[in-house]
Amino acid sequence: MEEYYWDSQLEYLQNTRDLYYNDDYLEFLVSSVWKISKPVHIIDYGCGYGYLGLKLLPLLPKGSIYKGIDKGEQLIDKAKNLFKNLPYETEFTATDVTEMNINREYDIAICHAFLLHMTNPKKILQKMINSVFNEGRIICFEPHWVSNMSSLYLHEYDQSEIMQLGFLQKLFENDTKRNGKDGNIGIKLPAYLSELGVTNIDCRISDKVNFLDTHINHTNKQSLFDSLKEEGLGIAPGEKEEFIETLMKRDASFSEAQAQYEAELRFSRLFNMDSSLTYAPNMKITSGVIKR
Ligand SMILES: C[S@@+](CC[C@H](N)C(=O)[O-])C[C@H]1O[C@@H](n2cnc3c(N)ncnc32)[C@H](O)[C@@H]1O
Repeated sequence: MEEYYWDSQLEYLQNTRDLYYNDDYLEFLVSSVWKISKPVHIIDYGCGYGYLGLKLLPLLPKGSIYKGIDKGEQLIDKAKNLFKNLPYETEFTATDVTEMNINREYDIAICHAFLLHMTNPKKILQKMINSVFNEGRIICFEPHWVSNMSSLYLHEYDQSEIMQLGFLQKLFENDTKRNGKDGNIGIKLPAYLSELGVTNIDCRISDKVNFLDTHINHTNKQSLFDSLKEEGLGIAPGEKEEFIETLMKRDASFSEAQAQYEAELRFSRLFNMDSSLTYAPNMKITSGVIKR
């Protein structure tokens, strides 16, 4: 049987999560923004290897319980393994979120980099809302690709040489119209949650700005460089004809696809361990309260 895609992406997931938030910022969200002062029962939709659990459980009041659900059986096994010797109450289930419903069992429904992969994200948001008690909370950490692509600076080069923002903006919009999946969903979630009747909506932005410094040989430089590459920055575009053909299937014109190929090739040639590069992922963190 063919391997489930996300089960093969554990390394990518583990190598990129550190690009997004500083721990002090997550602590600020828990205590000052969401004001969680009592133990909570929390469910993480599309939990992967349990990234949010690892980050949030140490910050949540003692006695909080974290449940992770994900379609990836290997990811769920990994999560069980990672948490088995940690002092937290956790539960993990391999399941397809589109085929399950939970009715008012949790204090908080949460997700991270999950809704962008759904072809019908509003339906999934409704499921998340349904799964929490009255006065419960929904929290979504989701990307806003156009924003992260504009928040990138490779020292000594014009950004337009390596990043064609206008073209990518249109490409992502067309993709979403075609298949429903939306890499810019983060910025839309306040409006979606409001449409679904959620109240007290609050939207924040991830705080971390990563800086690869050519002048400093910091110990974690190699790992930061590897993470940035793993995130997709400065990756060689591969075989030209195939690249152009793939983009044309996504509604790009031949000249747009060719220009995109050149930009990606240039970026991949210019970006290396000795570069100075600044990059902010700009995840949007939207939360709200469910009042029925
Ligand atoms: C980008 S990963 C994010 C994982 C994790 N939240 C994190 O940030 O590390 C997307 C996750 O959504 C999960 N996923 C995608 N479709 C799903 C579905 N229909 N049901 C359950 N999980 C799903 C994938 O298996 C994958 O682990």
